[in-house]
Amino acid sequence: MKDNRFLTLAIESSCDETAAAVLSGGRDVLSDVVSSQIEIHEKYGGVVPEIASRHHLTAVNSVIDEALDKAGVTLDDIDLVGVTCGPGLVGSLVIGIAAAKAIAMAKNIPLVGVNHMYGHVSSNFIQYKELEPPFLSLIVSGGHTSLVYMESYTSCRVLGSTRDDAAGEAYDKVARVIGLGYPGGPKIDRLAKEGDPEAIHFKRVYLEKGSFDFSFSGIKTGVLNYVNSQKQAGRDINAADVAAGFQEAVVEVLVNKAMDAAEMTGSDSIVIAGGVAANDRLRKELASACDKKNIKLYLPEKRLCTDNASMIGCAAYYKYQAMGSDGLYLDAYPSLPVDAQIKITGDGETSW
Ligand code: KG4
Ligand code: ZN
Repeated sequence: MKDNRFLTLAIESSCDETAAAVLSGGRDVLSDVVSSQIEIHEKYGGVVPEIASRHHLTAVNSVIDEALDKAGVTLDDIDLVGVTCGPGLVGSLVIGIAAAKAIAMAKNIPLVGVNHMYGHVSSNFIQYKELEPPFLSLIVSGGHTSLVYMESYTSCRVLGSTRDDAAGEAYDKVARVIGLGYPGGPKIDRLAKEGDPEAIHFKRVYLEKGSFDFSFSGIKTGVLNYVNSQKQAGRDINAADVAAGFQEAVVEVLVNKAMDAAEMTGSDSIVIAGGVAANDRLRKELASACDKKNIKLYLPEKRLCTDNASMIGCAAYYKYQAMGSDGLYLDAYPSLPVDAQIKITGDGETSW
């Protein structure tokens, strides 16, 4: 007999994690499986798109099977398939999308394409059952850094975004410069705890007064110049101090802009999302700034900050409620803007 709950099977493959999850309704996670490729890409110092794509291909079916098994259901119980359709690496996205389409077609169930960035924000709905839009959100990942005002579960207004590197990208690049390797964010997070954040001052970039945009490429160059100048002078670098100083500069800008955006929008809460939201210094500094201003801070637990399929399932559920199925014309949209929602009509016409 078919399970009488509304069950969503979600698939995520936008970068270097192959993930699947089963949710009951929008917020109850029955299973969550992530197959990480970190060890595979570690030796190259970053994600190699072609290798990522091949790994998704070999992992995707077993990850889906495991998610169904762990949830104690079969494909016959699934009511909705949700899959990340952008932004991300095109060769990685298409693997998850092909798997999702095959299931939707074979079982004749609706299919929803999820914007990965709405997914990240949605990780908070899973953790905080009472949380509802509208709210202000700071999204900080490897590919994006944005401040958005979530107007509803499926729409947002972008207040500002990075003009060059994303915060996570800056962490990864700086980690490479000081010899820490990939993935840089967690490694800098750890090493910075042993360093002095005041020892080396890296310039904070705030851009024009009142702007909620970000720029992190200057900090990366600042670190590179510092390391080169030390080397030329024959001095050893203290990697822990560099990590701590760099992190302090990034975190300070993120926290100050988020607090200013809260004031501008009259928000009494801030919701953070994305891989960099797992950063201990950012979590601590934001918590203390919010505390001072009496603002409620929503921080997802760390495993929900980095890429996972539960967040995609949650976003798929709400998108399906508001916008219906996208159907089998769904494609990969590698450069999908942070606020865009894919809508596909019956004859395949796509808009966002
Ligand atoms: O959201 P995510 O898993 O994937 C994207 O959508 O990009 O974010 C990955 C990014 C990487 O740049 C990684 O270095 C960074 O998040 N990251 C961190 C931490 N954990 C992951 N950055 C700083 N501190 C961390 N603890
Ligand atoms: Zn992500």
